[in-house]
Amino acid sequence: MSDQDIKATTAANADFWDELCGSQAAKQLGVVDSSPASLKKFDDWYFAFYPYLDYHIPFGSMKGKRVLEIGLGYGTVSQRIAESGAIYTGLDIAQGPVKMINHRLEQLHLPGKAVQGSILEPPFEEGSFDMIVAIGCLHHTGDLALAIDRCHRLLRPAGQLILMVYSAYSYRRFWNTPKDTLWYFARELAGYRGVIGLSSNAKRAAYDINSSGDGAPHTDWISIRSLENLCKKFVTFSACLENIDQEPPFVSRSRNDLLTTRWPRQLGLDIYATCTK
Ligand SMILES: C[S@@+](CC[C@H](N)C(=O)[O-])C[C@H]1O[C@@H](n2cnc3c(N)ncnc32)[C@H](O)[C@@H]1O
Repeated sequence: MSDQDIKATTAANADFWDELCGSQAAKQLGVVDSSPASLKKFDDWYFAFYPYLDYHIPFGSMKGKRVLEIGLGYGTVSQRIAESGAIYTGLDIAQGPVKMINHRLEQLHLPGKAVQGSILEPPFEEGSFDMIVAIGCLHHTGDLALAIDRCHRLLRPAGQLILMVYSAYSYRRFWNTPKDTLWYFARELAGYRGVIGLSSNAKRAAYDINSSGDGAPHTDWISIRSLENLCKKFVTFSACLENIDQEPPFVSRSRNDLLTTRWPRQLGLDIYATCTK
């Protein structure tokens, strides 16, 4: 994308994500305000819905560490990071999530702060953080490679990046967009290492949709192999697949049941990666 396209995507992201990611789930749960009790209801649901988060995000080893979270949404992970004793900083392009996280921190008298800005032009010094957590964010920025590079620069030597991005080879991509998926596979066979290019609103809306029915302004999908290539400045890289929904071709089993099968690890929706600088 050109610099101008990136600027337009960034502005569109600031607008789109002002409606907190997870708002529809919150509505269904009957969460109508931001009191501690209401947010706990949301957070309990969130960690039950994504039970593997505790495995991928090392909350237990964050005490005293400078942790940057990028892409905040409703703030469930943000609060857990701050509660773990980390020196917490949050970064989000949209105002809504930043307000929510600062509200959570103030309400619980937790130290830390969230600021509005883009990871593509981060308002922090090089080497400022011991750990960066970016769940479901970097693939929306419009430049996944640059976003990963920025994370690398913000980490101190031996610092860790934990990220989640969408898998190009998930069952949903094979089912909904077989042509795109096979084309990507062919390009990778020929040596291409990068993301699946620009996609339609319908394809993006299958992953992230707001209350008006619009898809996220930009979404990238990538394979583990290509992601490893984008992370090549890091000394170590490990990744695996997670997540599955009750949808075609898995309509006859509940999501909880599906999560216990081998499918999430083989054709799951999301890539969880951990990289060490
Ligand atoms: C799908 S939500 C994920 C939120 C949260 N991590 C979660 O798992 O619920 C993506 C978040 O990334 C943020 N985001 C998108 N582009 C960004 C950018 N360039 N810099 C920082 N944050 C960005 C959005 O504003 C949004 O809050």
